[in-house]
Amino acid sequence: MPRIIAVANPKGGVGKTTSALNLGVSLAIAEKKVLLIDLDPNGALSLGLGIRPEDIKTGIYEIMLGTAEIPECILRTELSFLDIIPCNVFSHDREIRLNTMAKNRSVLRRKLNDLISKKKIFYDFIIFDTPPSLSDLTLVALFAAHSVLIPLQCSYFAINIVNRLLQVIKQLRESVNPDLEIEGILLNFYEKNTRASHRGAREARQLFSENVMQTIIPKNAAIGYAAFEKKAVAMVDISAPGSLAYLALAEEILRKNTTENLDLIDESAVEDNALPDQRPVLNQVPDPDLP
Ligand SMILES: Nc1ncnc2c1ncn2[C@@H]1O[C@H](COP(=O)(O)OP(=O)(O)OP(=O)(O)O)[C@@H](O)[C@H]1O
Ligand SMILES: [Mg+2]
Repeated sequence: MPRIIAVANPKGGVGKTTSALNLGVSLAIAEKKVLLIDLDPNGALSLGLGIRPEDIKTGIYEIMLGTAEIPECILRTELSFLDIIPCNVFSHDREIRLNTMAKNRSVLRRKLNDLISKKKIFYDFIIFDTPPSLSDLTLVALFAAHSVLIPLQCSYFAINIVNRLLQVIKQLRESVNPDLEIEGILLNFYEKNTRASHRGAREARQLFSENVMQTIIPKNAAIGYAAFEKKAVAMVDISAPGSLAYLALAEEILRKNTTENLDLIDESAVEDNALPDQRPVLNQVPDPDLP
């Protein structure tokens, strides 16, 4: 049974696509079979793996439209443990159509569960990248997911936006997806020598308590550079701080979800990124937008 993780945060530019890609690649390096699903009409995840529009015969557009089945839309990547369903929305008309189809929010959950129960696909992890909104497309992923990974910019987090996502997760738990978990809040863009990052990490722990992942992703130029190469950072420089952090994240997620004893990386290499062990103070964060 695969673990289905939706990477989501309605705020833009926090590292959703980067985290979906780099977590997927890190799990694939750990020889876990991973399927990435690009649900963002911008197609950044697909582009981030170097998939060109001309490489895509059928993708998420046809799946949502019902004109192609999931298995025929899966593309192999240069990593044998990593596959992707690309997003092939290359016009405004297609984007409108895709959003219309996403009003049927359980469409992917139904299709994936059917394939999984009939043993027609075999993955350890299925990871969704989602758009920067709480649109129907994001809900399609949240309907199908077992858990949500929420990247958060370390130095500045828009609490009301994260709260809105947490409220949606709560509503889904109370209705259509009772088992939906928070995989974790993932602090990104951490700069160990800045007071803003230190304070951000501390406040995130206070606000979101044990939901904050132990692994922190540093701000690392190698991550941005790898994006230009259309690769995950670990495919360009396995010893870059960004690579080590995403390998640590994969290990943390594997530890949480399996009983396997894994040792993907040398612990001392990521010590600098580890959060001080502060215990939770608050669970609920008041949302200034709510009455
Ligand atoms: N830890 C990091 N260090 C350096 N650059 C990073 C890091 N994480 C992400 N980036 C860069 O920041 C930019 C935004 O990241 P990304 O596209 O993953 O965010 P996003 O949340 O998916 O954005 P959107 O909401 O627009 O989809 C990208 O250029 C990416 O390469
Ligand atoms: Mg993105």
